[in-house]
Amino acid sequence: MTLHVKSRSPWMSFATPERPALDADAHADVCVIGAGIAGMTSAYLLAKKGYRALVIDDGPVGHGMTSLTTAHLMTAIDDRYYEIERLHGEDGARLAYRSHAAAIDAIEAIVAHEGLECDFERLDGYLFLPPDGDPAALVREYEAGLRAGVEGLAWADRAPIDALDTGRCLRFPRQGQFHPLKYVGGLARAFEELGGRIHSHAHAVEVHGGEHPRVVTAAGARIGCDAIVVATNSPISDRFAVHTKQAPYTTFAVALRVPRGSVAKALLWDTLDAYHYVRLKDAEGEVLIVGGEDHKTGQARDSETRFARLELWARERFPMAREVLHRWSGQVMETIDDLAYIGRDPGADNVYVITGDSGMGMTHGTLGGIIVTELVHGSDIAWAHLYDPKRKNLKAASTYARENANVTWQYADWIKPGEVGSEDDILPGTGAVMRRGLQKIAIYRDEAGALHEMSARCTHLGCAVRWNAQDATWDCPCHGSRFDAFGEVINGPAIAGLPAVESSGAPPVKPSQPPLDTRPGTSV
Ligand code: FES
Repeated sequence: MTLHVKSRSPWMSFATPERPALDADAHADVCVIGAGIAGMTSAYLLAKKGYRALVIDDGPVGHGMTSLTTAHLMTAIDDRYYEIERLHGEDGARLAYRSHAAAIDAIEAIVAHEGLECDFERLDGYLFLPPDGDPAALVREYEAGLRAGVEGLAWADRAPIDALDTGRCLRFPRQGQFHPLKYVGGLARAFEELGGRIHSHAHAVEVHGGEHPRVVTAAGARIGCDAIVVATNSPISDRFAVHTKQAPYTTFAVALRVPRGSVAKALLWDTLDAYHYVRLKDAEGEVLIVGGEDHKTGQARDSETRFARLELWARERFPMAREVLHRWSGQVMETIDDLAYIGRDPGADNVYVITGDSGMGMTHGTLGGIIVTELVHGSDIAWAHLYDPKRKNLKAASTYARENANVTWQYADWIKPGEVGSEDDILPGTGAVMRRGLQKIAIYRDEAGALHEMSARCTHLGCAVRWNAQDATWDCPCHGSRFDAFGEVINGPAIAGLPAVESSGAPPVKPSQPPLDTRPGTSV
């Protein structure tokens, strides 16, 4: 989906071409919803197997979360191999390694086969401790990585950061990086050369599985198909089952100019929670990208402080850094057991979902395309059970309980006062939630001073949205839906926008989330 947000990543200066809107009913073997890395990889691989695939997206190719990633291609799973082993066993950790390595190999092979100019390159990655980090954590990771079969995993004396002796660290060879929009744009072109169709400005409002799957767009076009792939970052086809097993986090990134050749070419990660992640933008090495400072979406209002901390962290380690070129944030869906949900939708036949990027969206998105293509084709694939969206993991029960308690707590917003007592307290270009009688109204005052009033009730399951000053969006703290300043939905699981209200007030608002133990498919 197009992000109508203020955040501008360095990738966004590369514009993927507009595709036509869908103004008539259509038919395809497979309808793919979402033109980010997961959707376009699925579409490309399906087309390679001979399927007629049709891709729809709200906006241009790649301009959802794919445009906001920092595009680390890692086998160094960011939740750590010892955690994957605890949650999924030694076999699961081995499959996780092999599948992420295969995803990078697949990207490399597609780049070579299609001649994509996307700055793809292999490079080493280094996992290092923060100043007061526990060396035992790295030893645990090294031993678990060996058991998982991580090829070439080795100790290094220090990470390649001249200004800071990180001490002993782990080196993961043959990681990768690329320009995500050039890559996805290239995939889209290759898909179209295979006969595939892509439609922009096509917002899916209905997804029906079963014997005769179909998708309906906001413009009323019906797409009949044999299978549907929902690759919308957070799935719009499912209301409960997957969303209770993953949580939305906002992560921040800054890009700083650095003198050419002054920073070693490598991927760098520390072991903090939330961790910092570092890369150079491309082989030319003039732009350093540093990310981190994650928080639960909609549950913090200190983005300026977080950007300042990121910049300080970067300047302490890379004192040659000059001006800040970009600052942006994106959303990460963290699953309760650290691996993505990829496969058959728990609630609908012939519908497949790819979600739960867990901070590794480029490899999980690529894996998603590989897995759903094989499932649609009826083939066995060794990794499918590891990523099955229906999976239940008792070892993740405490995370499940904590995240869902957090969601339940967000509904308490409905009995709290508004953020402002009067529309007069809202400055131009900003928004706030105001109580009006029993209602809560999301009010945006545009730059010209005009007020735009909407129900604050998220159209997914009824949490109250909160104003995100960084991106000028309304963010839902429960499952990560986001709406632009005027209430248009820009990120699922919500499908519909926030309804406008007259200044006299909105219709009665009641939280609609059922108790946890009555929801289908929510146990772990
Ligand atoms: Fe689920 Fe808003 S995203 S209630």
